[in-house]
Amino acid sequence: MNTDIKDYYAQRAREYEEIYERPERRDDLLLMEREAAALFAGRDVLEIACGTGYWTRFIARSARSVVAVDCNPQALGIAKAKDYGGRPVLFLESDVYSLSNVEGLFSGAFLGFWWSHIPKSKLGRFIKTLHSRLADDARVAMFDNRYVEGNSTPISRTDADGNTYQIRQLKDGSSHEVLKNFPGEKDLRQQLRDRAWELVFRQWTYYWMARYTVKRGKRPLTLPSPPGEGGQKRPLVLG
Ligand SMILES: C[S@@+](CC[C@H](N)C(=O)[O-])C[C@H]1O[C@@H](n2cnc3c(N)ncnc32)[C@H](O)[C@@H]1O
Repeated sequence: MNTDIKDYYAQRAREYEEIYERPERRDDLLLMEREAAALFAGRDVLEIACGTGYWTRFIARSARSVVAVDCNPQALGIAKAKDYGGRPVLFLESDVYSLSNVEGLFSGAFLGFWWSHIPKSKLGRFIKTLHSRLADDARVAMFDNRYVEGNSTPISRTDADGNTYQIRQLKDGSSHEVLKNFPGEKDLRQQLRDRAWELVFRQWTYYWMARYTVKRGKRPLTLPSPPGEGGQKRPLVLG
């Protein structure tokens, strides 16, 4: 059985978006799609583990720019072939645990169904790496799955760190053991306690969403942006 998450998603790339067609989940997804389209108005967004670009299409509608990264060339190939309505979207092959080839400082970050795949032992380091690419007052938002009995793939085991796993099958008949955690609001608040301002957590039947503002040191003083900059606040730089 394959247990490498990168291999699993490389093999799954072509059938990946079928997960968004499950009829019972469409009502939730419609609300989330609307939310995604407005989440990052006027911001420069780093999208983590973008996969086939499903959420990129919505984010790009209001963002000023999007740099979307994934380690998987198969998924990136599908993402690049999509229409983003002429919006500035750049796809980059990158490992999200290092982001070593990602340049610049972003005012937003989006994680679609990625947090749940991070081993608990790597969460702290991942957040640090992500925040190192984000400006003060950047907005981070994420969507992920709730565990729904009878609908979600059953949990096959729990390891010593408390990570949970599922056995998933692809259309070619291959089986894959995939790390998939189902954190709740309390876990998110705990993990982000010294790193986030204004954490908002919402959930629907099948999914949850969290968004927060990056916290770094003291709350920065802010000034309203000049007209024409999307109404964002910009840090007041002193000295
Ligand atoms: C659950 S999919 C999410 C795709 C997309 N964000 C979405 O919501 O539709 C997880 C993605 O993480 C990518 N991935 C796994 N490990 C990665 C890593 N270390 N660096 C970058 N991407 C990774 C996989 O290639 C896959 O596209």
